Amino acid sequence: MSTPVTPDARPADAAWWRQAVVYQVYVRSFADSDGDGVGDLPGITSRLPHLRDLGVDAVWITPFYRSPQRDHGYDVSDYRDVDPLFGRLEDADALLARAHALGLRVIVDLVPNHTSDAHPWFVEALAAAPGSPERARYVFRTGRGADASEPPNNWESVFGGPAWTRVEGPDGPTDQWYLHLFDSTQPDLDWRNPEVGDMFEDVLRFWLDRGVDGFRVDVAHGLFKEESLRDQERSAEELEQAGPHEMVELTLADEPMWDQPEVHEVYRRWAKVLDEYGEDRMAVAEAWTQTPESMARFVRPDELDQAFNFSWLLAPWSAKAFAEVVTGTLEAVAPVGAAPTWVLSNHDVVRHPTRYGGGERGLARARAATLTMLALPGSSYLYQGEELGLEQVDVAPEHRQDPSWFRTGEPGRDGCRVPVPWSGAEPPFGFGPDGSTPWIPQPAGWAALTAQAQQGDPASTLEFYRRALAVRREHALDAGDEVALLDPLDGWGEDVLALRRGPLTVVLNCGDGPVAVPAGEPVVASGPLEAGLLPPDTAVWLR
Ligand code: BGC
Ligand code: MG
Repeated sequence: MSTPVTPDARPADAAWWRQAVVYQVYVRSFADSDGDGVGDLPGITSRLPHLRDLGVDAVWITPFYRSPQRDHGYDVSDYRDVDPLFGRLEDADALLARAHALGLRVIVDLVPNHTSDAHPWFVEALAAAPGSPERARYVFRTGRGADASEPPNNWESVFGGPAWTRVEGPDGPTDQWYLHLFDSTQPDLDWRNPEVGDMFEDVLRFWLDRGVDGFRVDVAHGLFKEESLRDQERSAEELEQAGPHEMVELTLADEPMWDQPEVHEVYRRWAKVLDEYGEDRMAVAEAWTQTPESMARFVRPDELDQAFNFSWLLAPWSAKAFAEVVTGTLEAVAPVGAAPTWVLSNHDVVRHPTRYGGGERGLARARAATLTMLALPGSSYLYQGEELGLEQVDVAPEHRQDPSWFRTGEPGRDGCRVPVPWSGAEPPFGFGPDGSTPWIPQPAGWAALTAQAQQGDPASTLEFYRRALAVRREHALDAGDEVALLDPLDGWGEDVLALRRGPLTVVLNCGDGPVAVPAGEPVVASGPLEAGLLPPDTAVWLR
């Protein structure tokens, strides 16, 4: 167990994020202190010792700013205040102080692509005339067709349906439409308007002044749209594949709405702001880009520090696919000198034990993939509840809240956002006070998966994560950045991923039968070895 350090004793390691394990907290679903069924900031603060004991370095908290909660906080109406649902500004300060006292860094979410439609800027824009400075902060355009009844272009919202909504006036529909790449309650800002950049610089400074260690930049590949706002070129087949969909699947070949060159000027500006606050503040981009090369552009030396690498998460259960991701990732970030990142689960995707087939086998695979990830150079992002082995929940339609569910009729992302089970034999499992009702029901079967039930059981997923993170600190942090993939045909066969990093050898068995492990002392495994053999769906580190 790590010793608590005071804020002043925190190492002033400028590049702490280069090898950090960052734990993502989805604020609604982590811990509910006041019993309203929704997680909140004091709840997070009270559970920080769990994260310290788990052995992570930092916590990333999803948006807790003022918001109508149409996309659970990714629709911000005031970037400089805490939503009353989650607490007050003082609670954010208390959380930061407590985290720092426990030796944990804090990364907050920044949502620059769009605001909420309840943001004062958008309310003013709707009240103002077409062509006014108020409307110029967003992307308003005249509709197509004789009566302007068609959207200005053919873009689709990531959450399904057209990316444009027609403005209603006192006498009915007007000629003007506004752009929203996500829900209609999330109007896109016009980053070509300098007021927008100035506003976000103020927001960055507001939170840096309060002591945050970094930012996770939402939809970092958005912000700028091709100035022409031309139609997207798409084949019928691509469209078919694109919708309705999970967000990750919407990367089509022609993207006038994403990843425009102008966006990089924004990150150069932000990098300068972060630098003013000292070298240990950081930013990580959520950028769903087309290629590893385009991802690497976000982490050039004068831009952001990291970008999520979704290729690990998107890879199928295949040693060959994992090997390609490792090689491709390291090759992409090396030329710009950035540290790679890895992630298997977050609040937007199906939890990884379920992606790998669910049940015992899905969990075994998930643990094996996690252990392999933790051996790689760079930082790893974990999502709350994965340390308990939680699976995706099939949320009943009446409890679904994801805007994409309302726009497409597809189940959406609520199933990975079910409140965390901490203790006890029945809901709310310590998520909130006894008798409170979590905003999405927790499965009764989670009684066996609470942190309390797993604590001290060496076979549990929780104890496995603790062990893996402790062993990572001991053996991986000084193992260097070089990774050598071992030839799969050199004894193991192509269903086995084997790699060497410094003194460590890591073997992941994606095949159907047990395999012999190379020489060395096993320091951690994702499941029991059998008579010295590595069973299927298992990974081991050897020294
Ligand atoms: C966030 C989502 C959110 C979307 C719109 C994403 O990339 O991770 O949860 O719905 O941005 O802000
Ligand atoms: Mg609450």
